[in-house]
Amino acid sequence: MSNTVFITGATGNIGGKLLITILDKDPNTRIIALIRGESAAVAQNRFEQVLRVLSPEFDTAAIGSRIRVICGDITQYQLGLSDAAFDKLASEVTHIIHSAAGIQFTLPLDCARQVNFVGTINVMSLAQRAAEVGQLRNVAYISTAYVCGDRDGWIYEDESVAPQRFSNTYEQTKFEAEQYVRTLMPALPITILRPSIVVGDSQTGRTLTFNVLYSPLKFIYKGIIKALTCDPATPLDVVPLDYGASAAHYILFRTEPTGKTFHIVAGAAAPAVGSVVRHFLIYLGQNLTGMNGRVPSLDQSNDGRITGNPRTLQLMAVFDPYLKVTRHFDNSNTLTALQGSGITLPPFTGYFDKLLDYCFAVNWGRTLRHAA
Ligand SMILES: NC(=O)c1ccc[n+]([C@@H]2O[C@H](COP(=O)([O-])OP(=O)(O)OC[C@H]3O[C@@H](n4cnc5c(N)ncnc54)[C@H](OP(=O)(O)O)[C@@H]3O)[C@@H](O)[C@H]2O)c1
Repeated sequence: MSNTVFITGATGNIGGKLLITILDKDPNTRIIALIRGESAAVAQNRFEQVLRVLSPEFDTAAIGSRIRVICGDITQYQLGLSDAAFDKLASEVTHIIHSAAGIQFTLPLDCARQVNFVGTINVMSLAQRAAEVGQLRNVAYISTAYVCGDRDGWIYEDESVAPQRFSNTYEQTKFEAEQYVRTLMPALPITILRPSIVVGDSQTGRTLTFNVLYSPLKFIYKGIIKALTCDPATPLDVVPLDYGASAAHYILFRTEPTGKTFHIVAGAAAPAVGSVVRHFLIYLGQNLTGMNGRVPSLDQSNDGRITGNPRTLQLMAVFDPYLKVTRHFDNSNTLTALQGSGITLPPFTGYFDKLLDYCFAVNWGRTLRHAA
């Protein structure tokens, strides 16, 4: 039986890579992508640009009729679709992948809630309709491992414990959305996927976004951060984009829906912040010089000094919680599901240089923004 996959967030890093993975591995699967844009042609164009960045060798012309782009917005009732279009969609889909979100950490709470919580309610209303009238087999909700907020220690996949506080409106509204999705689990075939910090492709370094890991490294490169402000032993749970997409694809399309939650994380293999920074400084020494013609060095005394203008300090504060809390994400469900798949997390030191090569080649994403 062939699949028809409805996906949100296909112009994003994770949705885009997952879509490429489906096209690559499942030749009989059709995809319907909900994309923002004033016309289907504009939306299609935006989406093809994303595919070219993430996978330039991918032949967009060969996709042909396998992808249908529809214009819509998850914050709107019925995703902005007419009654007829919404019902037709519900009758067609076998799988729903909800990857769209507002991932900025600094959105005002009401804006973040509109996209992440209300948007999820709207996508789940499609799932409910599809379960009534269609042939729905799996609904994947892309959550985040950081619904754990400020919790430390071990974080398990199927627990859903409210933290004392959240680091930002993103975590809070993703938690609210996940809680809502959990209430639907008895009635719908839902799979929750919780990635940690997603970085570029382990083979090519390619990525559309340069967030949590990249920003502090950029500040070190620019000589703005003069010292580590955290315990160097703090684990930094990062996963490369291709591993995340392959793992998600396998769980969704090669295993039976189990109603479980899966951490797409490095888990026990997460590198320590100190080793990431040390590796970065070695990379700079071997490949580049710093902004002033010198490789920046870090004060190892760990006295917490950061210099810079107020804007930089504010930006660093945004990333601080991800560098300071000692927590470990258990990924037993994921490892069990991936057994025999051949999909394994590559070691961080094996791909970190590739991330940096790409990062410098596109000037920390600036070149991509100008090309868009
Ligand atoms: N990046 C990470 O490290 C990370 C880690 C854990 C979990 N996650 C989760 O993974 C998912 C994907 O994240 P990502 O990194 O791929 O984010 P991203 O690159 O910023 O992509 C976000 C996607 O959501 C779409 N979107 C936003 N608002 C929308 C709206 N109102 N209607 C329709 N589409 C909308 C964006 O479309 P436009 O192109 O129109 O803006 C884009 O396609 C999210 O649910 C996120 O919470 C991400």
